[in-house]
Amino acid sequence: SGSIRIAPSILSADFARLGEEVRAIDEAGCDWVHVDVMDGHFVPNITIGPGVVKALRPHSEKPFDVHLMISPVDQFLEDFAAAGADIISFHPEAGPHPHRTVQTIRSLGKQAGLVLNPATPLDVLDYLIDDLDLILVMSVNPGFGGQSFIDSQLRKIEAIRKRIDATGKDIRLEVDGGIDRNTAPQAIAAGADTLVAGTATFKGGPDHYAANISALRGE
Ligand code: DX5
Ligand code: ZN
Repeated sequence: SGSIRIAPSILSADFARLGEEVRAIDEAGCDWVHVDVMDGHFVPNITIGPGVVKALRPHSEKPFDVHLMISPVDQFLEDFAAAGADIISFHPEAGPHPHRTVQTIRSLGKQAGLVLNPATPLDVLDYLIDDLDLILVMSVNPGFGGQSFIDSQLRKIEAIRKRIDATGKDIRLEVDGGIDRNTAPQAIAAGADTLVAGTATFKGGPDHYAANISALRGE
């Protein structure tokens, strides 16, 4: 399906050559660049911060899809916006005022995404969905690449697809974790339009990125 967007997670890239890796996935036909930001507190891993996002920005003109797994989150929004994030997504558990966080992201001129962990129920969407540009369903527990897709999240994707369609708005439904050529079609059938993929994009090295991305689109 041509409307499916593929957002490689650079968490699975070679961190010693990140700029080249971003160029390589851009040239291989990715739609967005997914950047996983972890603080060693909200999730049990530490990755990168706004300085690295800024350094990577000249290496691709594709949207930077920045997934913040940090708590508290509000104090870093401006830094990530200034560094070149286009979409900024956060977890509702990362701060006491998720609605304020959405407002702040939008006031910075960026698109706002809300991320739902595997055990997070949908009621957090009740008073937020109309203000979101993107909903990101975690199909693994956040913190690491290379984990297995949690099947129960397919029902969640289906339920969110119905809620998005009921708004009549252009809200993206993205899935993150354990996406490969077997789970991608399941997530798409459930209603996802954007797939994050780390392991499945970067496996085999740069010569394979284009074929890996095509396979995730179902081509
Ligand atoms: C997990 C991250 C994911 C992860 C996906 O916390 O949010 O983006 O890197 O990796 P794979 O595709 O390998 O499951
Ligand atoms: Zn992610």
